[in-house]
Amino acid sequence: MTWSPAHPETVFTYGAPQLKFGPGAADEIGHDLGALGATRVLVVTDAGVLATGWPDRVAEGIRESGLEAVVHDSAHVEPTDASLAAAIERARADGPFDGFVAVGGGSSIDTAKAVDLLLTNGGDLMDYVNVPVGAGRAPSRPLAPLVAVPTTTGTGAESTTICVLDVLDLKVKTGISHVRLRPTLAVVDPRLTASQPPGVTASAGMDILCHALESWTARPYTSYERKQPGERVPYCGSNPISDLWAERSMSLLAKAFRRAVRDGSDEDARADMALAATFAGLGFGNAGVHVPHANAYPVAGRVR
Ligand SMILES: NC(=O)c1ccc[n+]([C@@H]2O[C@H](COP(=O)([O-])OP(=O)(O)OC[C@H]3O[C@@H](n4cnc5c(N)ncnc54)[C@H](O)[C@@H]3O)[C@@H](O)[C@H]2O)c1
Repeated sequence: MTWSPAHPETVFTYGAPQLKFGPGAADEIGHDLGALGATRVLVVTDAGVLATGWPDRVAEGIRESGLEAVVHDSAHVEPTDASLAAAIERARADGPFDGFVAVGGGSSIDTAKAVDLLLTNGGDLMDYVNVPVGAGRAPSRPLAPLVAVPTTTGTGAESTTICVLDVLDLKVKTGISHVRLRPTLAVVDPRLTASQPPGVTASAGMDILCHALESWTARPYTSYERKQPGERVPYCGSNPISDLWAERSMSLLAKAFRRAVRDGSDEDARADMALAATFAGLGFGNAGVHVPHANAYPVAGRVR
């Protein structure tokens, strides 16, 4: 049954980061950060991704452009309130920074979003976590430029306005959601995804499928009550633009998903999976997701 609001919404919104896609894109980050005005940059990653050598290679490229770069492997796989607080503390101790780079999967990108938020806006993490778990405070100042460089083909976190975390004491998975958390620039270089083990390729690929299918089948923006300008949220419901990204993402998945899991060295399959993840992120990052994600959150919070 379709919900019929008394005053149906007539307006939808669409937001996206600047995007660089393709093999070689990760070698240009120093130039991009310089253009964004950064001088001293923190590269956030996790220990597993650090072992691939890519975070140090990205940091070296940044230094060759005349900027300072410090690498922290402070991201915890599936971030928690405790892991984010530790990453923020380490960044505060080594700061100040006027730019951030995340090299890794959703865990590293979300950790960098939280570090950027807290170093630019102050306060405690729980001030910003969604109500009713946290205080749901909106950042009052713009964040420093964040360049997000995904090494998994899944989350689309390089395009989205959320940071997902587990709150350990409450055994709940929740997030921080604000348009200021969207990375300034997404650099999607498929070379960085080639070392994903088959299990990571498979589970991250299922994330793409859920993002694309859920945003495509989400309640349309017209099924909500009309909002005032100040009430608009990043996730406005399915709309003609997010549908385009979701449909194209699913076509790419149908072609490349099995091949990328079976043979991680298949460069075409890796590139198609990177595009599929990006497209799904550009879609669900505006339309939102629904029942499957909502069901997964309380389960995910109990398996730490
Ligand atoms: N912010 C968002 O929009 C958003 C969306 C979906 C999911 N998420 C969050 O993202 C997190 C999951 O992120 P993920 O699925 O990208 O994985 P991840 O970042 O948790 O990484 C999974 C594992 O793969 C390893 N890895 C990553 N890239 C690799 C590579 N190229 N080579 C070798 N190993 C590699 C990591 O070291 C880690 O051990 C969860 O916390 C989830 O809630 C965020």
